[in-house]
Amino acid sequence: MTEPGGQVPSGPAERREPATGLTILGIETSCDETAAAVVTGGHDVLSSVVSSQVDIHARYGGVVPEIASRAHVELLTPVVAQAMVEAGVSDTEIGAVAATVGPGLVGSLLVGVSAAKAMALVWGVPFVGVNHLEAHIYAAFLEDPALEPPMVVLLVSGGHTMLVAFHGHGRYEVLGSTVDDAAGEAFDKVARYLGLGYPGGPAIDRVSMQGDPEAIAFPRPLRGEGFDFSFSGLKTSVVNHVRKHPDVRTEDVAASFQAAVVDVLVEKARRAAASIGATALCLGGGVAANSLLRERLLDACVVDGLHAFLPSRAMCTDNAAMVAAAAWYRLRADGPTGLDAGADPNLRLPSLVGR
Ligand code: KG4
Ligand code: ZN
Repeated sequence: MTEPGGQVPSGPAERREPATGLTILGIETSCDETAAAVVTGGHDVLSSVVSSQVDIHARYGGVVPEIASRAHVELLTPVVAQAMVEAGVSDTEIGAVAATVGPGLVGSLLVGVSAAKAMALVWGVPFVGVNHLEAHIYAAFLEDPALEPPMVVLLVSGGHTMLVAFHGHGRYEVLGSTVDDAAGEAFDKVARYLGLGYPGGPAIDRVSMQGDPEAIAFPRPLRGEGFDFSFSGLKTSVVNHVRKHPDVRTEDVAASFQAAVVDVLVEKARRAAASIGATALCLGGGVAANSLLRERLLDACVVDGLHAFLPSRAMCTDNAAMVAAAAWYRLRADGPTGLDAGADPNLRLPSLVGR
């Protein structure tokens, strides 16, 4: 298995300096969204189509990997076709095809990677393998291409929770990450325990509007200590509290849990920004769609004099426009990815400092 941009033989049409206006077809199939998008010049989104498998997995209370891969196989061709039609482009106008190569579910990743390579080969254009975490960071550039480093990105998704220092294109430093559950995973697990369904993040976000965030003083794990996160104990505190107080209002539990998670995320993001002298704070990943997190981060940036960048909710959750955006920068930096590159379910963010 090989990382994108790794030292593998290049694809059929090597071009180390693609035109700035290059149009890229991006494909995202790392988890339970089948997505395709057409993006020009790294930020001009001509189309972005996302077909969610949420309904398919909801009855199981979470993503079932085998079912996800099969659904990607069925959905990918129509989703790509729709993205091309909505963009109003034909295959002759596509200058490169990009796909997420990791991290994610290996069966799901392989569907997108194989399809992207096949299209690149047939159309005679470069294939670009994209790191899903890098793609979440590049979602910010889709809506504000002028964003200037140094900045800190708070990347909070179902599989990851990280604070990343962005020193320039492709130059990252992972300042901290979760030592156990990701923030989105904690939202999903707590929601399932409270009977709020799947996916849990949007359900907790919604229900919390009717709850009191100060009703229960849940712990703020690792608050004030470094840049790593821990959410598994918080989830246990929720379970213990509900067992002890069976009549507690679900809305209050949800709101108090959400407030605890957001407190920790915002506090650490602020400290991380101060530690590297960042001028901007960016949000990325599915949890970045959370209403309280967005509100609190915005307030904090006003107080700290930071430029806040909160991508639209559609660009926070998994989509292929962010894959095409990241591919545009990767192609310029590294050239095409070899067609012998595989998918890597455990791919990490390339960090300047090993973590
Ligand atoms: O980035 P994403 O779409 O997929 C991954 O790469 O993991 O993130 C999905 C995660 C899920 O855990 C979901 O519950 C969470 O993002 N999420 C939210 C909200 N919307 C999605 N969490 C809290 N509040 C939300 N509004
Ligand atoms: Zn994601």
